[in-house]
Amino acid sequence: MSELSIMFVCLGNICRSPMAEAILKKKVEDSSIVDNWRIESCGTANYHVGEGADPRTINALQNNGLTLNHRAQQLRNNHFIEFDYLIVMDDSNLADVESLTHNGSCQIHKLRMFDPLNQNADVPDPWFGGIEGFDECFNILNRSCDELLNHLIKKHSS
Ligand code: 4NP
Repeated sequence: MSELSIMFVCLGNICRSPMAEAILKKKVEDSSIVDNWRIESCGTANYHVGEGADPRTINALQNNGLTLNHRAQQLRNNHFIEFDYLIVMDDSNLADVESLTHNGSCQIHKLRMFDPLNQNADVPDPWFGGIEGFDECFNILNRSCDELLNHLIKKHSS
């Protein structure tokens, strides 16, 4: 199985993309097929650079037995070169990512193209709402990351 690098992208890098990072890292850790993948997350905006994840993100992860050690970072041109995949959360992230000039060859996808229940919808931004939005976010990310992992394993098995 080839080694892959995956960067999750949202707006602020304190809610959705760090949650997706923690979820996929755990699935990879638990997998007997995949090893040594580089999985990170970033935001298109610089609002929260250097901060930890939102406490509601950490709480939703903890409720599901996961932990996260996180410092927010902003998407940079180099990420398009360093990563095989940029996985964005919504159409707005996609437009922001596609508006950047870069020399990379990474593939860019919306995460929910892998959601078996709602293909290609946005991952709703839970930041402005209550904690229930973070639990919903976890469920969406969890089932989408299952299929993302299956897809990548199938595509890159050698
Ligand atoms: P995220 O959520 O993109 O899932 O990390 C947000 C976090 C912060 C802000 C917006 C969305 N903000 O405007 O500061």
